[in-house]
Amino acid sequence: MIAALLGFFFLRSIVAFETVDLWTGRNGTVDPGDQCSCEAFLPGTTFPMGELVQLEQTAVQISQKLELEIIKVDMYESKLTIYMERVANLTVVIEMMEDDPDSYSELYIQEVKIQIKQVEALILELQASIQTSSAVLITIRKEITVIIVELTKLETKYDKNLVLVTRREYIKLQQKLEECERRHNEIFNPNIGSCNHGGISRLSKPIISQLNANLASGHIYGGWGKDSHPLPGSETMYWYSASTDAVVRYMSVYSDYYRLIMRQAMKTYDLYASSDWRGMGNNYIIRANTLYYQFANPFSMAKFNMTTQKAEYRVVPSASNRFSYHYAPNQILDFAADESGLWVTYATEASKGKLVLGKIDEAAFALKQVWQTSIFKPSVGNTFMVCGVLYATRSVDIHTEEIFYTYDTHTRKERYVSIPFEKFQERYMYLDYNPTDQKLYMYNNGYYVSYHVWFNQNQSNKPQVLI
Ligand SMILES: *[C@@H]1O[C@H](CO)[C@@H](O)[C@H](O)[C@H]1NC(C)=O
Ligand SMILES: *[C@@H]1O[C@H](CO)[C@@H](O)[C@H](O)[C@H]1NC(C)=O
Ligand SMILES: *[C@@H]1O[C@H](CO)[C@@H](O)[C@H](O)[C@H]1NC(C)=O
Ligand SMILES: *[C@@H]1O[C@H](CO)[C@@H](O)[C@H](O)[C@H]1NC(C)=O
Repeated sequence: MIAALLGFFFLRSIVAFETVDLWTGRNGTVDPGDQCSCEAFLPGTTFPMGELVQLEQTAVQISQKLELEIIKVDMYESKLTIYMERVANLTVVIEMMEDDPDSYSELYIQEVKIQIKQVEALILELQASIQTSSAVLITIRKEITVIIVELTKLETKYDKNLVLVTRREYIKLQQKLEECERRHNEIFNPNIGSCNHGGISRLSKPIISQLNANLASGHIYGGWGKDSHPLPGSETMYWYSASTDAVVRYMSVYSDYYRLIMRQAMKTYDLYASSDWRGMGNNYIIRANTLYYQFANPFSMAKFNMTTQKAEYRVVPSASNRFSYHYAPNQILDFAADESGLWVTYATEASKGKLVLGKIDEAAFALKQVWQTSIFKPSVGNTFMVCGVLYATRSVDIHTEEIFYTYDTHTRKERYVSIPFEKFQERYMYLDYNPTDQKLYMYNNGYYVSYHVWFNQNQSNKPQVLI
């Protein structure tokens, strides 16, 4: 909790959003009468000026909402200062009582206990407020990202440069939000990387970041995300790959979120350039600057080290190439990464298509342990791992997907659950969890989609104010 409290003080500076000025390209003059006159450069009549003006107004509204959130954060901050002082005061009192227990009356001890309960209640209340704020930020983000998708459409229809100014401002806003959300998440859940929770409780609404970098609707196969165990200095890196078929040939990396959205790849690797290292099925993962994926030929698991730009492959013992996920063929080997390392799922002939989960020894690049589940792989939408627990999804209807099954590798226990979440579009090709930010990344018919993950709070994780 203290880490959470301290994290707060960094927040104010981060959420100091700049006012959005979408028309920075305008020239203005101030005449002696203190009147400001502006020259606007109106492009041809075919250009959707009305739509751009509308988007500008929306930006102003979004800014206002953010301002309100900033005011709230100020309030949290001052409350927090008071609570921390009370906690410090109570700590002093308790230490004195511990040193000399006999000289305090039962009444006084009771009074201190009541005070502790009061502070505890206040902190819980504050936590609830922070949670509400996070929800507001998620909504704001969704609004911004929807507009970015709109702008992308305008950009493909009209002069790209005219839309670019508006687009840049939105992207800046989006990037600030990204940073703010990250901080919020740190305050609200300072335990990224920790598995001291009771598993996933729910997912946020889908957050749509972008239409694919290929700017083409046919790119239904693909994936995007972050390195699940980044090399030092690559923490902000994103990756993206897509194709019109199930073949995996290119992988692009972007130095940060802004560059991803601006489609400015730092590097694009071609798995077919020097040798035939192409893959299939898109259920890859990037870990320590290495792409783990299903090799196309021979059918095996492969790793392409992006540092050395060399690939190697290993046949997965008894993996059958007949069982794919529900939404597309060729999704045979599905890689996943979580807090505990690298995993691969598949199915075997012996298991009659039931999903098998394997833990990969990264140094040896070999399976070190396997677990047999009881779910039939072709009925599964996709799977991912969190803290050594497998989560499997399936379709409920065209708008809804649900996590319906979990398998805990520590206890070898499986459970049927129902954690529904909204799909952006019906079929998606990629779904994986990233332990560095505790988000789910989905590639859905050309769109980059992500979800915040909420975990069941471990009872002993509740804010503790001594005793
Ligand atoms: C604004 O004025 C400067 C200096 O006259 C000129 O170079 C620039 O092109 C003008 N900007 C626009 C958007 O016309
Ligand atoms: C903490 O203790 C100091 C000194 O006893 C006192 O002045 C202050 O009001 C206390 N703060 C709170 C929040 O109770
Ligand atoms: C909850 O926390 C306790 C203490 O840290 C730990 O021993 C226990 O395993 C945790 N439970 C779960 C479900 O993570
Ligand atoms: C990739 O290659 C580099 C350079 O040889 C090496 O240090 C690193 O361990 C390799 N990464 C993996 C995951 O094999």
